[in-house]
Amino acid sequence: MNNKTVLVTGGAGYIGSHACVELLQAGFKVVVVDNLSNSKPESLSRVQQITGSPLTFYQADIRNKQALTDIFAKESPSTVIHFAGLKAVGESCEQPLLYYHNNVYGTLVLAEVMSNANVKQLVFSSSATVYGESSSVQYTENFPLGPINPYGRSKAMIEDILRDLSAADKTNQTEYPWKIALLRYFNPIGAHESGMIGEDPNGIPNNLMPYVAQVAIGKLKQLPVYGDDYPTRDGTGIRDYIHVVDLVKGHIKAIEALNSEKFEAGGCKAYNLGAGRGYSVLEIINAFERVTGRKINYKISPRRAGDLAECFANPDLALKELNWKVEKNLDDMVADTWNWQTKNPQGYI
Ligand code: NAD
Ligand code: UD1
Repeated sequence: MNNKTVLVTGGAGYIGSHACVELLQAGFKVVVVDNLSNSKPESLSRVQQITGSPLTFYQADIRNKQALTDIFAKESPSTVIHFAGLKAVGESCEQPLLYYHNNVYGTLVLAEVMSNANVKQLVFSSSATVYGESSSVQYTENFPLGPINPYGRSKAMIEDILRDLSAADKTNQTEYPWKIALLRYFNPIGAHESGMIGEDPNGIPNNLMPYVAQVAIGKLKQLPVYGDDYPTRDGTGIRDYIHVVDLVKGHIKAIEALNSEKFEAGGCKAYNLGAGRGYSVLEIINAFERVTGRKINYKISPRRAGDLAECFANPDLALKELNWKVEKNLDDMVADTWNWQTKNPQGYI
């Protein structure tokens, strides 16, 4: 088996494309499987331009078991990074079956195909959204889970399935047991420093940073600030923003950990990927104005349903066991977002 081949589901998307760059630069052979439901193949052309290295792309849906089986037979990956999924919270409330089918059923098919092919190292894109309400604003991996929308529940269900799968191998003393890293992302923002790949949301963005960037460039008129009466230092919501390049480096570290003897055979372990500190909405706006010299027109608006006042990661476990921590700061995140936005005002065209 070629130990250097990583199969990346959802590799044409925002985080996946950045992961492909890091994987290629680290010397891995990369095979992308993406149905392009929320991305364009141009992102993968840019990945190859940035790195000067080729990758293999299959336009396929992970729910297509035969297609996936054929890809595994042809490419013999040793590890899978599983980004493919739908991620819009509001849409998941309107179309829960779509989300469960795509995210949960899609992962079941992927896990079956992996099992049949005896490829049992998996890095999964989970989210801080799996955590339940907590009395602490700094989340540690052993906090109780309790997501409050179908998107978050699809992630929590997948985590459960993957834990059950690896536990079964331990019980059965399987010769080649699963090794799974569940990476719980906090708030990924920013773009590759080249400005050639970045986040390209469809329609009006839901998330703060792409919204701010589109106001700065004049595509949107005004940023709604969802609430200034939270019990936080300036009344606006606080989140743990993390540069997407730092985030994807955490995936390389996770692969290294899975490949090592230290990671328990039959283990399935969750890691927070966050910086361990939070910024408020007003702090983000101020940083954007300072770094770009543009005025951000905003209006204090009612709170958004489902929002928390404050949350950020305790990233100690990722440091201890994956040897990973963030390296970039808020100014890097803002400057790289702006570089991508100004170089690609219409996204990938
Ligand atoms: P994205 O939409 O840019 O990328 C997801 C990719 O998966 C897209 O290219 C899409 O076409 C593909 N895809 C979706 N369903 C598929 C299917 N059935 N078969 C094949 N391909 C499929 O999203 P992203 O921001 O890059 O997120 C990647 C992963 O990280 C997702 O699983 C998401 O839930 C998770 N995540 C994202 C964030 C965030 O803020 N961006 C936070 C936490 C977790
Ligand atoms: C949202 C999702 C979460 C997902 C995460 C990362 C909801 C309720 N939660 O989290 O499930 O994992 O994105 O993709 O959608 N804000 C504004 N104005 C805006 C947009 C956001 O003030 O136009 C504020 C929010 O109230 C929040 C902060 O900015 O305080 C960050 O918002 P956002 O980028 O959407 O991330 P989350 O709310 O953390």
